[in-house]
Amino acid sequence: MSLLKLEYVSKSYGNLKAVSDVSLDIPQGKIIGLIGPNGSGKSTLLNVISGLSPADSGNILFDEHEISKRATNEIFQLGLVRSFQDPSLFFKMTVLDNSLLPTKNQKGEKPWYAPFHKLWRKEEENHALESAQVLDQLLIRKHYDALASDLSGGQMKLLELGRSLTGSPKLLLLDEPTAGVAPKLAYTIFENIAEMREKLGITFLIVEHRLEILFDFVDSLYVMHMGEVLTQGSPAEISANSAVKEIYFGD
Ligand SMILES: Nc1ncnc2c1ncn2[C@@H]1O[C@H](COP(=O)(O)OP(=O)(O)OP(=O)(O)O)[C@@H](O)[C@H]1O
Ligand SMILES: [Mg+2]
Repeated sequence: MSLLKLEYVSKSYGNLKAVSDVSLDIPQGKIIGLIGPNGSGKSTLLNVISGLSPADSGNILFDEHEISKRATNEIFQLGLVRSFQDPSLFFKMTVLDNSLLPTKNQKGEKPWYAPFHKLWRKEEENHALESAQVLDQLLIRKHYDALASDLSGGQMKLLELGRSLTGSPKLLLLDEPTAGVAPKLAYTIFENIAEMREKLGITFLIVEHRLEILFDFVDSLYVMHMGEVLTQGSPAEISANSAVKEIYFGD
């Protein structure tokens, strides 16, 4: 079953067609890679899907909702969550507070509950415990009370990933989740991603330049070039595709 379907989606900046007639089909429960050379339109496509910079034309169907004209917060509420290429953390807040931000349906956020901490203290504790588990899995729990600004670049990427998980996503769009992360940790991140798919049934669309790691974990890949989808296939098919080699590996 398809969880996300794009039909002929385009996005231009002035004369530049950053995304041009892109069609994708992301099945429920799969890990799908999105690769392509620098400037091929991958981040723009994630921005378009998540509503950050809406499409000029085309249809985007997520979990049976047409979302191409919806606001980012509505899209998030439907269960589509994205992370950013450059971590977009709240740097003056702690690691734990950053990870707690996306938690949905919190009683303490409702004006008629807010003054009565007793009524939502237990719920708040449970959310903190859940977040702590996510931070633990990503090996940054010990920094829970540090400011996000005090983390290393790699740890910021981990927190960005952890934060996207506490929003109970159905689909996670990850933009280069391992950029700036040491190779061993990068592999661990992908092992976590595979585990989240198994345990929580989360579907993933992942932009990543580290193909040697990505290819070990994805079910299939789309390849973009100059704003268009060049081809699609399994890791084995993409590795053997001469057009991909030419644009991507410079062969
Ligand atoms: N806000 C913007 N305004 C103008 N041009 C933009 C904007 N965002 C992206 N572009 C252009 O659109 C094209 C696609 O950029 P995009 O960031 O989507 O590429 P990418 O595939 O994510 O590249 P990378 O692998 O380097 O992250 C590039 O030519 C880029 O300069
Ligand atoms: Mg990008």
